[in-house]
Amino acid sequence: MRELIKRVLRSEKERDSVTIAGWVRTRRDSKAFSFLEINDGTCLANLQVVVDAGIAGYDQVERMLTGASVEITGRLVPSLGQGQQWELHADRVRLVGEVPADYPLQKKGHSLEFLRSISHLRPRTNLHGAVFRMRSRMAFAIHQFFQERDFTYVHTPILTASDCEGAGEMFRVTTLPPDKAAQDAEDFFGKRSYLTVSGQLEGETFACALSNIYTFGPTFRAENSNTSRHAAEFWMIEPEVAFCDLQGDMDLAEALVQYLVRNALENSEGDLAVFEKFVDKSLRERLEFVAERPFERVTYTEAVELLLKSGKTFQYPVAYGLNLQSEHERWLTEEHFKKPTTVYNYPKEIKPFYMRLNDDEKTVTAMDVLVPGIGEIVGGSQREERLDVLLENMKRHHLNPEDYWWYVDLRRYGSVPHAGFGMGFERMLMFATGMSNIRDVIPFARTPGSCDF
Ligand code: 4AD
Ligand code: MG
Repeated sequence: MRELIKRVLRSEKERDSVTIAGWVRTRRDSKAFSFLEINDGTCLANLQVVVDAGIAGYDQVERMLTGASVEITGRLVPSLGQGQQWELHADRVRLVGEVPADYPLQKKGHSLEFLRSISHLRPRTNLHGAVFRMRSRMAFAIHQFFQERDFTYVHTPILTASDCEGAGEMFRVTTLPPDKAAQDAEDFFGKRSYLTVSGQLEGETFACALSNIYTFGPTFRAENSNTSRHAAEFWMIEPEVAFCDLQGDMDLAEALVQYLVRNALENSEGDLAVFEKFVDKSLRERLEFVAERPFERVTYTEAVELLLKSGKTFQYPVAYGLNLQSEHERWLTEEHFKKPTTVYNYPKEIKPFYMRLNDDEKTVTAMDVLVPGIGEIVGGSQREERLDVLLENMKRHHLNPEDYWWYVDLRRYGSVPHAGFGMGFERMLMFATGMSNIRDVIPFARTPGSCDF
């Protein structure tokens, strides 16, 4: 509808006969005419339609209730009423799909929890319409960011036999009958296979050929963490860059976050106003702040010292060698630095096998970008490009190099320093919309105990 109105505004002749189709948001009747507010989901705004009594199809108007679908032809004219520039004076109206009285979205102001239970209908609300339009625009902006910088988009496999993160949080994929104690060799692929947790390892092979690549697709984690920031199925953006070190990796990750924030500010077409009204009053201010200022950078060791000196009582312990928990990450970015913060050089014991060992032999070149309100939004590293050190790392992680022979080969044939990261698409979207639960920025969320729709 937005495109249609843009087009007809250009030509006066076309304004005389415009056909629109959408869903009724509200209807008000008076004796001689009815007002319909129609929305087709292409943008936030409704189009107001004036239906004079007696026009073709007028007998159907009383059945044009909230949620009904309609098609209307008429003249687009400047509106004398408040709140809209243009309105449609109908010549003909047609009820396309009726709606019975049990339509769940009659009233405004449903809770987000309730709307999750009707995920098939919630895109029709102003809030979720705005979220999912933002999701679409952000996906496009991600491609733009990388394509502008000559990155090649690579489709890494969704079915895999390797556990990239070594965390064992994988969904197994099998065609074996559930009740049969069969050997892995009898399974579809002749070995155990899973849904991917990350496209990184395959991405690295392409970076070691095409230099700059990125993936953007669904990833799966069977983590049993029922939090507002974890989903079992989520989308990840994973760039990988050859001849790049940790500094370059952090630069790229921070530039991507800022680019997406700027893009949301510039191209949100009114949707940001919805988030400001219903979700977070200071959203725009926060996004502008992030778009403009450099991020803070601290080493893991410095971060742990700051946390120990903070005088705060945390639920989880803080000590060198322990993972930073979400509450620690949020304290650093929200309370201490009060801006996005990149933490780097983590102890090797708490990070996967592929990260490059630093000269101190204690830490690896890992980095996490933390943002206020969410915590970790990006996780990445420079990769271990030295064959002997990689093999040593694998041994430490109890991995068999033969299972990763192709990954090891990259270090045997023209090895190069390279680095990359994974950005959680939904977490980025939460940051840009202010939505506080990951379930509300995924069309159909998959979380522990919930795989509906
Ligand atoms: O930090 P993670 O586990 O890193 C990797 O998977 C690397 N292989 C990426 C790479 O270097 N190419 O995950 C990356 C990001 C996290 O920072 C987080 O934003 C998001 O993915 N993420 C999740 N988002 C939603 N639900 C989950 N369960 C997530 N787990 C990770
Ligand atoms: Mg991580």
